[in-house]
Amino acid sequence: PDLSEILSLHDFEAVARHTMNRRGWNYYSSGADDEITMRENNTAYQRIWFRPRILRDVTKVDFSTEILGHKSSMPVYITATALGKLGHPEGEVVLTRAAHEHGIIQMIPTLASCGFDEMVDAAAPGQVQFLQLYVNADKSRTKKIIEHAGKRGVKALFITVDAPQLGRREKDMRTKFEGNASSHQTKGGDKVQRDAGAARAISSFIDPSLSWKDIPFLKECAGDMKIILKGVQSWEDAVLAAERGCDGVVLSNHGGRQLDTAPAGITILPEVVAALNQRGLLVPPGKPRFEIMVDGGVRRATDVLKAVALGATAVGVGRPFLYSMSTYGFEGVCHMLQILKDEFEMNMRLIGAPTLTDVVPSMVDISALKVP
Ligand code: FNR
Repeated sequence: PDLSEILSLHDFEAVARHTMNRRGWNYYSSGADDEITMRENNTAYQRIWFRPRILRDVTKVDFSTEILGHKSSMPVYITATALGKLGHPEGEVVLTRAAHEHGIIQMIPTLASCGFDEMVDAAAPGQVQFLQLYVNADKSRTKKIIEHAGKRGVKALFITVDAPQLGRREKDMRTKFEGNASSHQTKGGDKVQRDAGAARAISSFIDPSLSWKDIPFLKECAGDMKIILKGVQSWEDAVLAAERGCDGVVLSNHGGRQLDTAPAGITILPEVVAALNQRGLLVPPGKPRFEIMVDGGVRRATDVLKAVALGATAVGVGRPFLYSMSTYGFEGVCHMLQILKDEFEMNMRLIGAPTLTDVVPSMVDISALKVP
């Protein structure tokens, strides 16, 4: 269909399902095991209801914000997703350009198809980028990567902590087996090779011995860059992250690609906020706020507004960027971001919130959140 007929983020997924090559589709769309967590990521938002307010002047609506001290046109960032070239020949730099066009922040994946420097070079002057990091078992390599990122102007490191071993994505595994037949290796055997190799690469170089003891080392390497743990799944670990001097956490289950039946980030957000607040760790005196981000299953601005109401600074969006990029390229990603912006404007009017500071906990009813 023509791009103008694409009305929601879900539409991109539907088009991608029918037009992407099977290898790319299966890699992007798969979740771990029975994909229960992957589905829950989206349905959890459907158990939160708004408590809209009326008769507030919503002529002007402003959904711009700051993420880790950096301006963003909306409380959304592009989270790290590996292997962008499975969906688009130019890969992740397409997202870099769209992020600039729409004033949002991109998180560069360790396992991007494009090189790290290529992605930094593709950014406009002053464009903010974060880096997702899989910590290498070889500490000196990790140190080099982090220091290089700092030199290249990366503002924050998101250390992925939910993948000491790669989850089993069976849909993905099946095509890989079938894909060994050369007839499947159409466009660029190279991409296919990298895909097949990625799973192995992830599990071979990621350090499963990574522990809280390593945080001081990572902080030291990071210098001025902020450190965020990506993949926190309990309030206990959020508290530990704050106590150990991290700057924030992402409540995430890796898009349902790691531990199946892990909770959705949004489900644990209320208890994480409460636990940090109780201990004075959320807004520590004289220090910047400890930032809580959420990712997984976010497909509507209403999802984002629910997370913001419950105390998230911002949310990460993954697959919709891959699907819009794979189907319509740069224009598609821009269209997707415009859809989100239009949804923000309308829904903030409808809930009676002219700015994001008006999006407060009392604007949502979470009584059904833990009772599916
Ligand atoms: C991911 N994700 C991910 N996370 C990470 O820390 N390092 C990585 O290399 C990847 N790679 C990756 C590939 C693909 C194809 C997907 C779909 C996801 C997880 C990602 O950052 C994020 O947690 C989820 O994608 C968020 O869920 P949604 O928005 O995709 O539902």
